[in-house]
Amino acid sequence: MIKNEKAIHQHRKDEHLSLAIKYWREQRNKTAGLTFSDLRLIPNTLPEIALEDIKLSSNFLGTSFEFPFYIEAMTGGTPRADKLNAQLAQIAKSQGLAMAVGSQSIALKYPELAAGFKNVRALHPSGFLFANLGAGHSLENAKRAVEMIEANALEIHVNTAQELPMDEGDRAFRWLDNINEISEKLEVPVIVKEVGFGMSQQTFKQLSETAVSAINIGGNGGTNFAWIERKRSQNGFDIDDFGLSTVESLLEAQLSPPTKPLIATGGITSAQDIVKSLILGADLASSAGFLLSTLNESGVEAVEALLEQWKADLAKWMTLLGVVNIIDLKQVDTLLSPRALSFIEQRSGKIW
Ligand SMILES: Cc1cc2nc3c(=O)[nH]c(=O)nc-3n(C[C@H](O)[C@H](O)[C@H](O)COP(=O)(O)O)c2cc1C
Repeated sequence: MIKNEKAIHQHRKDEHLSLAIKYWREQRNKTAGLTFSDLRLIPNTLPEIALEDIKLSSNFLGTSFEFPFYIEAMTGGTPRADKLNAQLAQIAKSQGLAMAVGSQSIALKYPELAAGFKNVRALHPSGFLFANLGAGHSLENAKRAVEMIEANALEIHVNTAQELPMDEGDRAFRWLDNINEISEKLEVPVIVKEVGFGMSQQTFKQLSETAVSAINIGGNGGTNFAWIERKRSQNGFDIDDFGLSTVESLLEAQLSPPTKPLIATGGITSAQDIVKSLILGADLASSAGFLLSTLNESGVEAVEALLEQWKADLAKWMTLLGVVNIIDLKQVDTLLSPRALSFIEQRSGKIW
């Protein structure tokens, strides 16, 4: 029976990978919400700087990240997932990037599956690694997950809109006190992370009152777990169009008093998306599905080349905008589309 449960859990992990790859191959990464095209950037015709002046590093949780981007949480706990994590760790190391592992829940339940997660640390010994668990886990489990990969921080994922379309998903979502307790007592910083349905002002307010160190707004427009889980399930709960996009979630954060440092995830597929995320207030951006899809279609070297391109492009974008460091990107002059203005008008003063 126990062996069967383990096999079911592992099967779910592999199905997530296959369906995410199918999703990106079919180019389903659309959103009904605001996209990065709703934000235009004003040219700086006389930037008075040189490309060599540009500093791409970003300070986040007391650490200097060489590049304001990292590889986001995906997987672990099956032979296929472990192979993927090893490839991602190799890429993260060669590119000097941080990396998050996927949920370690499976390895807490079946400790013999921890080896693949530990291998990520072995392959990227000095890298900044994020552990990852769901919000229902105890402080003890959070400590074990961090210890497993000697993590520098813990991501706690919040995923109501993923669980409800799952036949076998959770049906109770009382998390806030637990998140606060873990954030207060864990020895590394805690980041609360949506998995692709975005966050509103109400959520920023709730989290601002906790000991959480940072927030990953996890907006829609990229991998859609409502779609992925619906493909796996029989219950027919269709919420494919639900949620706030990455751009909308960042605007919601701007409509809130400054709360915590922000990470932008959800549909990041270019240096331009990273630049615009930083302009909209994020300190870092990260990407999951698009990198998985590129890795699957074209291999490790292609992902490395892509990330090299993003670094070069980011420096060029900053030169174009006349900005020498990441912090100053927040001052860049922008133009919002009429529907973005309407969003801001409708959402202003909702909570605060
Ligand atoms: C195959 C796959 C598995 C994922 N598993 C996890 C997970 O275990 N924990 C988590 O916090 N997020 C998980 N995610 C969500 C991503 O970290 C990210 O929040 C989401 O995919 C949106 O980013 P994207 O559009 O760049 O893919 C997973 C994503 C993919 C594609």
